[in-house]
Amino acid sequence: MQVSSETMKQSVTSSAFDLANDAAYLQWRDKKLTDYPLSTDDLLVPVRQFPSLEEEESAAIQRLLSKTNMCLYQLDPAVSVTKNTIKQFAAHFGFRNLDTNICADDDSITSLQTKNSGKHATYIPYSNRKISWHTDGYYNTAEKTIRGMLLHCVNPAPAGGENQYLDPEILYIHLRDKNPDFIRVLMDEKALTIPANEESGAQRAAQTGPVFSLDNQSQRLHLRYTARTRSIEWDDNPLLKQALAEITQFLLSDSAFIFTYKLKAGQGVLCNNVLHNRTAFEENESAASKRLIYRARYYERATGT
Ligand SMILES: [Fe+2]
Repeated sequence: MQVSSETMKQSVTSSAFDLANDAAYLQWRDKKLTDYPLSTDDLLVPVRQFPSLEEEESAAIQRLLSKTNMCLYQLDPAVSVTKNTIKQFAAHFGFRNLDTNICADDDSITSLQTKNSGKHATYIPYSNRKISWHTDGYYNTAEKTIRGMLLHCVNPAPAGGENQYLDPEILYIHLRDKNPDFIRVLMDEKALTIPANEESGAQRAAQTGPVFSLDNQSQRLHLRYTARTRSIEWDDNPLLKQALAEITQFLLSDSAFIFTYKLKAGQGVLCNNVLHNRTAFEENESAASKRLIYRARYYERATGT
């Protein structure tokens, strides 16, 4: 029987996350860390046109998505961007099926902007407060797993509103190197429970699942995490507590693997739902120049990553 090279590639990658297969892990780890970018300059790809791309622009973005699970792109702020062109740009890399949520606009892309009233007002993303480390959709059902995410900056805040990003595979390496049992306990099906949300419109049942898992769609590592401490239940297990403390310590560290960047107008991030946070920010007084970030969440990872 012929095994396709794609299947081969996937089986090699998924075995790297098998705790019983150290050889596969060490081989993958070595490749992952070789020439890993350590500066946001290395993550930033200038893009001349939108949403159609030059071949080398597309190749540079694809290369970064494969290497670091994320890339930053930079458009001339004079180039007009609509939600539609954002969708076309992301689709170029295989991001096609958008998740919707109760606060998304009608076209499933969310305009992140401060809101003082209505259904948005109770959610932190629509305030100017800081957002702690998380991956998107950690409260979603397994069918609605968020594998891809895009943020596009229309207007930055005059001060603050900076993001940090961390590739989940780097966190995996950090933890497995410290203690492989941390991975075992984080892959436990009952590690993390998000209690039911009974607010009108949301109506979501409690979601229990692992922190790290092997995604059944791509056979790649998936991370479901939030640093929030309210409305969240961790399994009562001493080793899980230790693993979480290790994660917290790493996320608070000045590790060169953690990228800190404030998006400027015309810039964005495209990623396989990497870990991220946001600092608090000051808001512009005039409505026209309020901080505005478009956010799109996808059910797919980038093709070929
Ligand atoms: Fe987020």
